[in-house]
Amino acid sequence: MNSEKQDSSELIARKNKELSAILEVSRVLTTSFDLEKNLSSVMSTLGELLDLQRGCVFLLDPLTKELRIVAAHGLTKQNIEKGKYRIGEGIVGRVLERNSPMVISNIGKEPLFLNKTGSRPEKEGISFLCVPIEFKKEPLGVLSVDRIYATEHGNVDDDLRVLKIVASLTAQFIKLWESYDEVEKEKEHLKRELKGKYSIENVIGNSDRMQEVFEAVHRVAPSKATVLLRGESGTGKELIAKAIYYMSPRSKGPFIKFNCASIPEGLLESELFGHEKGAFTGAISTRNGKFELANGGTIFLDEIGDLPLTLQPKILRVLQEREFERVGGQKTIKVDVRIIAATSRDLEGMVSEGRFREDLYFRLNVIPILLPPLGQRGEDIPVLIEYFLKKFNKENNRSVTFDKNAMQIFLDYEWPGNVRELENTIERLVVMSPSEKIAASDLPVSLSIRRPRSKINTASLMTDIGEIEKVNIIDALKKTGWVQAKAAKLLGITPRQIGYKIKKYRIIEKA
Ligand SMILES: Nc1ncnc2c1ncn2[C@@H]1O[C@H](COP(=O)(O)OP(=O)(O)OP(=O)(O)O)[C@@H](O)[C@H]1O
Ligand SMILES: [Mg+2]
Repeated sequence: MNSEKQDSSELIARKNKELSAILEVSRVLTTSFDLEKNLSSVMSTLGELLDLQRGCVFLLDPLTKELRIVAAHGLTKQNIEKGKYRIGEGIVGRVLERNSPMVISNIGKEPLFLNKTGSRPEKEGISFLCVPIEFKKEPLGVLSVDRIYATEHGNVDDDLRVLKIVASLTAQFIKLWESYDEVEKEKEHLKRELKGKYSIENVIGNSDRMQEVFEAVHRVAPSKATVLLRGESGTGKELIAKAIYYMSPRSKGPFIKFNCASIPEGLLESELFGHEKGAFTGAISTRNGKFELANGGTIFLDEIGDLPLTLQPKILRVLQEREFERVGGQKTIKVDVRIIAATSRDLEGMVSEGRFREDLYFRLNVIPILLPPLGQRGEDIPVLIEYFLKKFNKENNRSVTFDKNAMQIFLDYEWPGNVRELENTIERLVVMSPSEKIAASDLPVSLSIRRPRSKINTASLMTDIGEIEKVNIIDALKKTGWVQAKAAKLLGITPRQIGYKIKKYRIIEKA
């Protein structure tokens, strides 16, 4: 083969390589919306297809005005971390500043070449090509490659041409990614905003846990589905039951409340289902039960866990068929009712002990809503205090407020009686306080006693461990004036760990 022929076939081969590299770059840039991943693929594509020793994409951080390596080929992690340049600094910095390419044919002889990444032990013989990444004259970053020139590698002009095309493709992708990223962030922001937007009249709760409850209430209210409200005493089960009723299309119908624990077992059946005249001694006339009274509306079966086993089959039938017979009656009565039940009892435990029918449990548990204890949603305490102060001040024509220390005691207390206890405490204070400003010394001593959390079972053990950790972190933060680094030291963990845990437990500094 003569040398001219050899040259032209080499030229064709090289052009083909360049073309495939450009095609491949444009392909990888459309594979995802992950900036770093795509740019890394671009660099390795270039490295492989064009036999480059090293390559880097530097992007300009608009805040720090620094160029940072976001993707690289042939560099170690440490090299990457070291590669930071200011505008105008080194070759990379200059290329960005001047917005024009630079070629250093032998970096060993170039004093401007800073070798910041430390990735080139021997600089001799290596050429360095650097092109700006820009979009409509806006500098976005810099693309750089290292290259050892041998004849078959072509010349600098060819390489520069390819790099310029790659830089322009990269710039377009970066711009696209920026607007995508902005839209995604905006979406997240709107989602978060919306999350705090669930509200229910007269029910207070900004905590995530309560917002989840509100969301569930909004979702179930329009349907006829049976709802089971769970939660400790005083967490607001009845309040939520009424809210569901008011927010439902049945709000024009009756709301009948029945407490299954309030009446002796013998009278329960006739209370719920009614009786015919003469059904038992004293049944002097026919009487409608609660289910009939609730026809067209909603029945709230409070303390459902106290329902005696003997009555459970009859309730189950109402749940399944919406029908029953009065005590002493033959006629089957059909009703159209929505059932909301509530209990603070451990129904699952009762089922396993045979004190609550499993089939009834499943029928009731279609949509369970758990009301978290107040101690687990400290963020709600200040808003609840504000709400109840306003309410009782108005009722009593007063303008009582809490001072900072009194507020702190309210925040630290566990509230075993939950919102009811908080509400009653505030009412008493508003009525009884001689002064308008309540200080810590005006509060009942019982509020300063930390009560151990009750009822530890295996299911809640993990949350209890979390609780203990959370309390420890808050204590440490308080002791150190909310300086995270100091609190971390006190706890023997790193500042990073404490930062993570503060986020995890949503700990906020309280005034
Ligand atoms: N999130 C809340 N916002 C405003 N008030 C609340 C809230 N939760 C509870 N309350 C008030 O606390 C008191 C107790 O609530 P409720 O009677 O609904 O609790 P419960 O869960 O039914 O308790 P129990 O199991 O003892 O019957 C009520 O006066 C109620 O208005
Ligand atoms: Mg109740």
